[in-house]
Amino acid sequence: MTDTDIKKGLAGVVVDTTAISKVNPETNSLLYRGYPVQELAATQPFEAVAFLLWNGELPTEAQLAELRAEERRHRALPEKVRAAIELLPLEAHPMDEVRTAVSVIGAADTAGAASVLDAAGSPEENLARSVRLYAALPAIVAYGQRRRRGLGIVEPRDDLDYAANFLWMTFGEEADPVIVDAFNRSMILYAEHSFNASTFTARVVTSTLSDLYSAVVAAIGALKGPLHGGANEAVMHIFAEIGSAGNVVPWLDRALARKRKIMGFGHRVYKKGDSRVPTMQAALESLIEHYGRPEVGELYATLEREFVSRKGIYPNLDYPSGPAYDLIGFDTLTFTPLFIASRVTGWTAHIMEQAASNALIRPLSAYDGPEERHIPGYVAS
Ligand code: CMC
Repeated sequence: MTDTDIKKGLAGVVVDTTAISKVNPETNSLLYRGYPVQELAATQPFEAVAFLLWNGELPTEAQLAELRAEERRHRALPEKVRAAIELLPLEAHPMDEVRTAVSVIGAADTAGAASVLDAAGSPEENLARSVRLYAALPAIVAYGQRRRRGLGIVEPRDDLDYAANFLWMTFGEEADPVIVDAFNRSMILYAEHSFNASTFTARVVTSTLSDLYSAVVAAIGALKGPLHGGANEAVMHIFAEIGSAGNVVPWLDRALARKRKIMGFGHRVYKKGDSRVPTMQAALESLIEHYGRPEVGELYATLEREFVSRKGIYPNLDYPSGPAYDLIGFDTLTFTPLFIASRVTGWTAHIMEQAASNALIRPLSAYDGPEERHIPGYVAS
């Protein structure tokens, strides 16, 4: 094997087929089960997109009502999860908190410890588990933020749909429809993106015939990194460093001289721009107008213009979603957990797809360590 056979980072390697989403970097398009993501974001509630990812078709009215009823039944923070979160230090990273919470849910579902191929790990059982996880995650994320702010839990409201209830549980007040709409769009845009690092991680774990929760916990670990999901949080750190549009040029000069990576820009697959950005940018603009914060838009546009003109590297979804979540009032550390709440739908769809036509994922490596050598004095018996 030569160095040229090695595809570092699996770049450009096609590992399997998937019917869940299609990324086309040539046309800047992303399809969920055939539907362009921007059409879904403009017309659907997140619940319908979750159903689509899991089942392959958009729900009928009756199916949507059924999913919503099930989601409402499982939206309250499970008592065991609350107790586990309260054992954690307030300084624990929210990603670690959510990872722990999912682990607790998994351990409490004793039948769920079964392999994805056992009867208890059947497609029906795993779909039901996926719905329950997706239903519980908003309460986990919302409570995490409130706890760090020294605030008590806000119980879910049955009269609100997923996005509105998520905001209610986080802030304890009913959100304006402009905010609910922007948040709903962001949840849809984050839901699925083919074989990204965290989804691939979930598929690797599933391929060993482990269980659904273990695969999701592992995926959360992969998502945490700033080269992946952690970038939406990192974008806000950059905005805070820069301060205002007028500081962009000197800040960027220094950052590029030090070869810093500018978070929220670049993508392994899209080289001409991320298909999800225009939709999220429009949602951000609606929030900027709603909150009367034009300076956020100026900083956003100036950094984008300057960076793209110098490097020819375009923004990814995390670039508009970071400031959007900030405007809504989420703490910066809560941004990547929001990504989990959405992406759990895509992860679990992939876990079920992997289980349905499984092959153990086990690539090869090219050894470049020391030549064979021996322990001095050792004599084989
Ligand atoms: N800032 C500065 N330079 C960059 C950036 C960036 N954001 N992205 C790529 N480059 C440069 C990089 O330094 C390298 O330059 P050179 O060839 O001179 O060494 C070249 O472009 C290729 O970069 P790479 O990192 O080898 O390319 P990749 O395809 O492995 O990178 C990436 C993809 C997402 C890891 C990278 O663009 C990056 O680190 N971006 C910042 C983090 C980020 O925003 N991540 C979110 C990704 S999208 C959401 C998600 O999937 O979670």
